[in-house]
Amino acid sequence: MGETLLLGQTLAFTGDPFAEGPDAARHDPYGAVLIRDGKIAATGTADTLRRAYPGAWITDHGDALILPGFIDAHAHYPQTAIIASWGKRLIDWLNSYTFPEEMRFADPAYAAKTAKRYFDLTLAHGTTTMASYCTIHPDSVDAFFAEAKARNLRVLAGKTCMDRDTAPEGLRDSAQSAYDDSKALLNRWHGQGRLSYVITPRFSPTSTPAQLSALGALWAEHPDCLMQTHLSEQSDEIAWVKSLYPDARDYLDTYEAHGLLGPNAVFGHAIHLEPREIVRLSETGAALIHCPTSNSFIGSGLFDMTLAQVVRVGLASDTGGGSSFSMLRTMAAAYEIAQLRGNALHPAQLLWLATTGSAKALNLQDKIGTLAPGMEADLITLNLASTPAIAQRKARAKDIWEAVFPTIMMGDDRAVTQTYIAGQPLK
Ligand code: GUN
Ligand code: ZN
Repeated sequence: MGETLLLGQTLAFTGDPFAEGPDAARHDPYGAVLIRDGKIAATGTADTLRRAYPGAWITDHGDALILPGFIDAHAHYPQTAIIASWGKRLIDWLNSYTFPEEMRFADPAYAAKTAKRYFDLTLAHGTTTMASYCTIHPDSVDAFFAEAKARNLRVLAGKTCMDRDTAPEGLRDSAQSAYDDSKALLNRWHGQGRLSYVITPRFSPTSTPAQLSALGALWAEHPDCLMQTHLSEQSDEIAWVKSLYPDARDYLDTYEAHGLLGPNAVFGHAIHLEPREIVRLSETGAALIHCPTSNSFIGSGLFDMTLAQVVRVGLASDTGGGSSFSMLRTMAAAYEIAQLRGNALHPAQLLWLATTGSAKALNLQDKIGTLAPGMEADLITLNLASTPAIAQRKARAKDIWEAVFPTIMMGDDRAVTQTYIAGQPLK
């Protein structure tokens, strides 16, 4: 047998709520999800599935909401210990907090300890997949993937590459070593179980053109891999890129000129884009990742969510530039930033961004991010009345969207009552 039937409220996207509106979702107040061999085998109403699978082991989650696990499409696990560090904007924040912390990952034991803590925290917050930057140290990648493998997680990560003297001594590789180390790590981890290697130049200001070209060459040898980096996060950063790459048409061009643009490219932030950059991103099929708590915390700016009409957009915490591990808090920040631009995102759009949208941005939509047969059973259950403040608001709700919105705006890890990894409950 080996079948488990989860009962609860279910919410499944049948389309893209940015294109089709909130009707692109199906809500079952008495829903069910059948799990077999670590995957979703069926979804439907509780009545129908109970009748169809009488031998299944039943786990009843009451009126908790069963959702796909959250997908954090851009994070830096090595910044776990410096999250919420005070008072700096991007470049000073990197120099004051981030780089000194990333130097500590020269010690593999510290990397292993941080990877454990990072997964404990993210799983408790209902995040089941993340695309993480590591540090320049290959051991930091091994630590991340080894821990993810032990927990059977679907994760993506890569060695962060930096070879310019803009990065501090002790956190620099070279064009050749970045190529060699990334290639060795890719061969060791990519496609092993549910692990994916991501080619990861940190951003143009900390790489020489030679390094960007070397990583472009590696990507050309492994075009099925994702390539992740940062793009147009802060105005000072953009001016810096202009001074370091005087011949580039714009920031995106510094990547494109070195073979780092295409349908498997994933760009974090992308707040201050030029019209030409938007056209090229759309033409080439690259994805953008919105990191709203980071963009307000570091003071970067207001991402334009209407870009979702022309490019794939995923959602991310950007731990530790972002100020929370919670994708609920991240959705709340996305809502607030869109409000500041005159656009009220619907709860369907927010939940879609944190699940299917992020899966699509990472080209994993056939594996995770949707409550549908054939998908891997990485699932969470949300208590929609997890605190007194949320409960009293939810008590007034007239439909599922009103019921879930207070949890999106005010919820945190207390709302996540269970997390399933490939069908196995963590608690
Ligand atoms: N740009 C280059 N590196 C980083 C980083 O670690 N965090 C953020 N938010 N932006 C970056
Ligand atoms: Zn980042």
